Amino acid sequence: MTFRRTKIVATLGPASSSPERLEQLILAGLDVARLNFSHGTPDEHRARARLVRELAAKHGRFVALLGDLQGPKIRIAKFADKRIELAVGDRFRFSVTHPRDAGTQEVVGIDYPDLIKDCSVGDELLLDDGRVVMRVEEKTADELHCVVLIGGPLSDHKGINRRGGGLTAPALTAKDKADIKLAAELELDYLAVSFPRDAADMQLARRLRDEAGGTAWLVAKIERAEAVADDEALDGLIRASDAVMVARGDLGVEIGDAELVGIQKKIIQHARRLNKAVITATQMMESMIHSPMPTRAEVSDVANAVLDSTDAVMLSAESAAGEYPVEAVQAMARICLGAERYPANTRSKHRMGEQFKRCDESIALAAMYTANHFPGVKAIISLTESGYTPLIMSRIRSSVPIFAYSPHRETQARVALFRGVYTVPFDPAAVPPEKLNQAAVDELLKLGAVEPGDWVILTKGDSYNTTGGTNGMKILHVGEPLV
Ligand code: G6P
Ligand code: MG
Repeated sequence: MTFRRTKIVATLGPASSSPERLEQLILAGLDVARLNFSHGTPDEHRARARLVRELAAKHGRFVALLGDLQGPKIRIAKFADKRIELAVGDRFRFSVTHPRDAGTQEVVGIDYPDLIKDCSVGDELLLDDGRVVMRVEEKTADELHCVVLIGGPLSDHKGINRRGGGLTAPALTAKDKADIKLAAELELDYLAVSFPRDAADMQLARRLRDEAGGTAWLVAKIERAEAVADDEALDGLIRASDAVMVARGDLGVEIGDAELVGIQKKIIQHARRLNKAVITATQMMESMIHSPMPTRAEVSDVANAVLDSTDAVMLSAESAAGEYPVEAVQAMARICLGAERYPANTRSKHRMGEQFKRCDESIALAAMYTANHFPGVKAIISLTESGYTPLIMSRIRSSVPIFAYSPHRETQARVALFRGVYTVPFDPAAVPPEKLNQAAVDELLKLGAVEPGDWVILTKGDSYNTTGGTNGMKILHVGEPLV
């Protein structure tokens, strides 16, 4: 039986919120449903979260919910006539005093007073994800005077970035703070923080999450030039998070598209080395917004992210607002499976020369070493409270599936993001200790994941229900009476 190891995150939106559509997405292989707090009302998110959980339960699937905070995306105000058209060489101004709803061919308002302070003459500003580019020619007390380098349409509320990054808006807005409460209310499994500058931004988000009573694991979206300026900055941000997202839209605008591929590989590598999960996002299947088939370039992009060892690949507008959301998930699933067959992806030299810091980490890695080198091993069972032990395991490349056995709803959903990890609801405390190994293996037999004659590795601790307690590993022969 082949399990797809790479997980699929799909954004829900108007194109994917009816019960029928959602059910199709779940059956097509959706692992994590993303609620984008930049769009939609709290009630729409509530309804989607409820539906995802109902439909996943109906099909015995485990789908995690990820809320994505809007963050301090800096945006221009509105135009009197909604939209203008700029040509190369045109002069254009951003003004903190111009009326917010009366932009013209020459000037538009902006809600971010620090823009003037943050920018210097010679800076390049990118509007609408880089579709329009301008250079700052002159600065006054409340305006930036620019010349257009790349022309095109510009309409209400388009985003603005600076090439090289450095616009210093704080990472959490009033809306984000309200959405952190909504995430707690909806018991979301993951919460993505947009535009964090450093560890302090993540710590603030963590504090607000705790105050709201949420338990979501925090995902840092890597999308500012500062976050990838050097290894120290990147690792600091990764360490302060539970998972990261390679948010290629804004990141590409800030650092330039030429740098993006190398940085993607680096972020994935660093995240795995620091024991965190990682999502690769943005425009992976962009043409499928209007087409039932991906382009060859998109196929390559998804496959290469798999070869880079990402935990998950993500769909944005393709599933939220596109014409072919189900086909997009199906195509991703197919491409991931194909890429996973490539042999370099099933063995690991990772961390061979390193010391381990913790007992459970040592057992998790010993289990992976054994799984990868003892050919009869067809599955790994990890009894887990929080999902931590299977997370560590899944940082190591392998073709052996890792089954996370947990009685907790949060953990059952959370591990859906981790590469090569699959949920099995299981309460070890409900089984007499001498029957535990057999009961655990029986679950795999039921799933069709193993057959008599196969070997299975099982990890656990001496006592049940203690996170961090894993201290033992068993190698079990399926079909023999197990004690
Ligand atoms: C289950 C097992 C324990 C083990 C724990 C690890 O509760 O019964 O023996 O110590 O999982 O949980 P963790 O959150 O560290 O993966
Ligand atoms: Mg972004």
